[in-house]
Amino acid sequence: MKTVLTKSPIEAAEFIKRGGAVAFPTETVYGLGANVFDEKAIGKIFEAKKRPNDNPLIAHVGNFGQIEALVSEITPSAQKFIEAFFPAPLTLVLPKAERVPFAATAHLETIGVRMPKTALALEFLRHCETPLVAPSANLSGRPSPTTWQAVYEDLTGRIECILQGGETTEIGLESTVVDCTANAPLILRAGSITLEDLQKIVPDTRIYRASKNEQPKSPGLKHRHYSPRARVVLVSDLRFRVSNRSAYIGLNEPCEKFDLIKICRSVEDYAHQFFKFFRECDHRHIREIYCETVEEKGIGLALMDRLKRAAEGGAASS
Ligand code: TXA
Ligand code: MG
Repeated sequence: MKTVLTKSPIEAAEFIKRGGAVAFPTETVYGLGANVFDEKAIGKIFEAKKRPNDNPLIAHVGNFGQIEALVSEITPSAQKFIEAFFPAPLTLVLPKAERVPFAATAHLETIGVRMPKTALALEFLRHCETPLVAPSANLSGRPSPTTWQAVYEDLTGRIECILQGGETTEIGLESTVVDCTANAPLILRAGSITLEDLQKIVPDTRIYRASKNEQPKSPGLKHRHYSPRARVVLVSDLRFRVSNRSAYIGLNEPCEKFDLIKICRSVEDYAHQFFKFFRECDHRHIREIYCETVEEKGIGLALMDRLKRAAEGGAASS
């Protein structure tokens, strides 16, 4: 399959209307979109990404009216979050409408809904004239794509089109996912909309922590994630010995010499940069990436969540 590159949201939307899969930029990461009501198109996404089929997708809407077509109920907490934040890097999990195919939700009775914020994403969604399910546009397990080149690297020849926008540096890591089906909202995945932000709107909001024997509420949480080919090592003390072909990313200057170093200006900047840095490390055949840990509060919680998963999943260099 030839993958068409375009800067035109109108041209990209034509591929969606013909049942294709199209990568597009949002304020978080690039998504791989397909019509939420088209089971065949949804199948293409799972195939292109090699995504495990028990991992549900997020539906993206271009206007408020589309939310009602996707869910059977907008719960009171969801209503408050929509009014306070949308469009935003925030996904709300709600009971799905009957019309939404189970292919989109990995057989769950719920669907995640989000309205992305950037003008280009909203314009593209409007031209599609339907909500789109869109996982991050990377091969499953790889670092999420923050540039169209990263999408191209993983998915060229596997999808119909890439809508070329700039780097997704406004946020740079995926949306906060909040289950709004119960009385107290539960954060299933941390993101740049923080626990503190959500508690200002609904004070009962909590962070979900799966107990050992329980099935995770967000199936995506159990899969290997965000992994470059290099081994990811988390460090808090910056005096450590490094081997050859090592890289470092963090807020403070390390004591050792590295083949590749990125010093970030702030935790926000760190969150913008690390996915791209991981891919750059792979291009440079780095074997170990040392990541400085940050305090797990605010967006630091989301960043540490991604770094820990990358460190768990990172295969030893080969
Ligand atoms: O920022 C984002 O959310 C990006 C952009 C493209 O919008 N999308 C994204 O999608 O990160 P994906 O598929 O990589 O991650 C979706 C996450 C997974 O952890 C999945 O398990 C969870 O959301 N999720 C989706 N629907 C769910 C549902 N009905 N119940 C619980 N978790 C759900
Ligand atoms: Mg993903």
